[in-house]
Amino acid sequence: MYKTSEIAAEYGIAKSLLTKYIKEENIPVVNEEISKKYFQTILSFIENTENRIEKKLKESNATFKYNDEKNKVNIYQDDVITFLKKLPSNSVDVITTDPAYSGMNNKLKLGKGRIVGKYADKGKENGKWFGEFEDSEKNYSIFLTECQRVLKKSTGHIYIMFDSYSLLSLGNIVRNHFDVKNLITWDKVNIGMGHYFRRRHEYIIFATNGNTRKIRNRSFPDVWRFKRIHNSKYPTQKPVEVFQAMINASAEENYTICDPFLGSASSAIAAIKNNCNFVGCDISDKSMETSINRISKYLEDGTDILQKKSMAVDDKIFWE
Ligand SMILES: C[S@@+](CC[C@H](N)C(=O)[O-])C[C@H]1O[C@@H](n2cnc3c(N)ncnc32)[C@H](O)[C@@H]1O
Repeated sequence: MYKTSEIAAEYGIAKSLLTKYIKEENIPVVNEEISKKYFQTILSFIENTENRIEKKLKESNATFKYNDEKNKVNIYQDDVITFLKKLPSNSVDVITTDPAYSGMNNKLKLGKGRIVGKYADKGKENGKWFGEFEDSEKNYSIFLTECQRVLKKSTGHIYIMFDSYSLLSLGNIVRNHFDVKNLITWDKVNIGMGHYFRRRHEYIIFATNGNTRKIRNRSFPDVWRFKRIHNSKYPTQKPVEVFQAMINASAEENYTICDPFLGSASSAIAAIKNNCNFVGCDISDKSMETSINRISKYLEDGTDILQKKSMAVDDKIFWE
């Protein structure tokens, strides 16, 4: 049995709206409770109810930073897990995200955890490259549990980016929460840093929230070639095309895309390009400033101030 008031709170829907629907559909209610049998019907109604995310975040006093009502872009400053906990269940269609892994710096004997090169000073907050995301197995599982809860059961797809180290240490945990469908290789075309073989790629785990819809086209490859961004204004800024490929494969117009490690908002620009709604957060002041400037300028006149040209090297069929 499910209590209507609890359903309303968890899924971020007004109780009056839910009660009206239950009455219209003649769903039996005993002591404010409905039986499991009718829950699925209610869930489908809830999934299609608009503005649940904004409503629930407002009620939770989330630190709201930017909103564009017409394009439905909402940006918040928050810690990833605190933020995800504020989102309604079953409310996001696709998560596309590129977490801050501290493991690479802390555990691999690469640079002894020091930040080297031009980002050593640029973008540092409290002496660190980014704000902390504790990428222990325990914390990572909490992160994935929340991702699973907020993703819709009918459409929920998730893309999580990994470097080589974090893939080995945390990648397997994704299988405890989602149906992993692919390990995508992002080939950056040109070699980067590295003390042994020089790094030219990253990984992206693609998974579904149970038995959801398929991707939009079965001819998409699992190796994606997009050049890395040199001299980026934001450390670890990724090409917009990487996120466009994810969104193009998994979303229809007006789907809601979420990125809780927003960085410089490359995922938000990709969502806007694909006519999708977007909700995202990041813990850092620099990310907020960069993202708000970037998104508002893009919405104003179509200029992407952080990525002037396309990073794609192949034809456009699968990512645009
Ligand atoms: C790898 S970067 C994302 C880069 C982004 N994909 C882009 O293209 O610009 C990871 C981001 O996670 C943020 N971050 C670190 N710890 C966080 C936390 N606990 N909660 C939310 N964001 C966090 C960092 O500030 C950083 O912007």
